[in-house]
Amino acid sequence: MPAAPLEVVNLSAGYGPTRVIEGISFSVPAGARLAVLGRNGMGKTSLFATLAGQTRRFEGEIRLGGRDITKEPSATRARAGLGYVPQTRDVFPTLTVEENLQVGLKDRPKDAIEEAYGMFPRLKERRRNLGNQLSGGEQQMLSTARSILGKPSLLLLDEPLEVWRPSSARS
Ligand SMILES: Nc1ncnc2c1ncn2[C@@H]1O[C@H](COP(=O)(O)OP(=O)(O)OP(=O)(O)O)[C@@H](O)[C@H]1O
Ligand SMILES: [Mg+2]
Repeated sequence: MPAAPLEVVNLSAGYGPTRVIEGISFSVPAGARLAVLGRNGMGKTSLFATLAGQTRRFEGEIRLGGRDITKEPSATRARAGLGYVPQTRDVFPTLTVEENLQVGLKDRPKDAIEEAYGMFPRLKERRRNLGNQLSGGEQQMLSTARSILGKPSLLLLDEPLEVWRPSSARS
């Protein structure tokens, strides 16, 4: 049986000296979807950021497709098949929609971008607009499409149903 795309064992991580997530274990079988629910500030984003290698890990292990990526840097995890659409979307503001998509291609040919336009026709209409000229929902489409273009074996979507607003605009 092939290894589960994601296995997390006793993971604890945080920022500086502070532990935000503590002793988390779970796995995601092939083809499965797992929803992570919790109130604001409970650590959902921190869990995803830890899987992507962007927080301080204290203990625990992360395996992607059976491969131990616990100590790998973020870029290696991405190349190993981990797709991450962060809550902040992380669209490049001064690149066009098409240039943002090119960033997600990894080693794929440029015409694969048509797949993204097939998924999100709105992005095709906006292909020459800059990232900072997009609405919140359009940025979400762009960030999601950019990640899918890299053919990840596991896709982490932080707040996929939220239309993103700057933190200063949140109540
Ligand atoms: N970069 C950081 N440095 C220090 N503390 C942080 C940082 N990012 C988040 N935290 C803290 O970690 C805790 C968990 O935050 P996190 O963003 O993971 O929560 P969340 O469940 O995603 O919340 P939300 O539903 O509002 O998105 C909070 O107490 C937050 O203040
Ligand atoms: Mg969050």
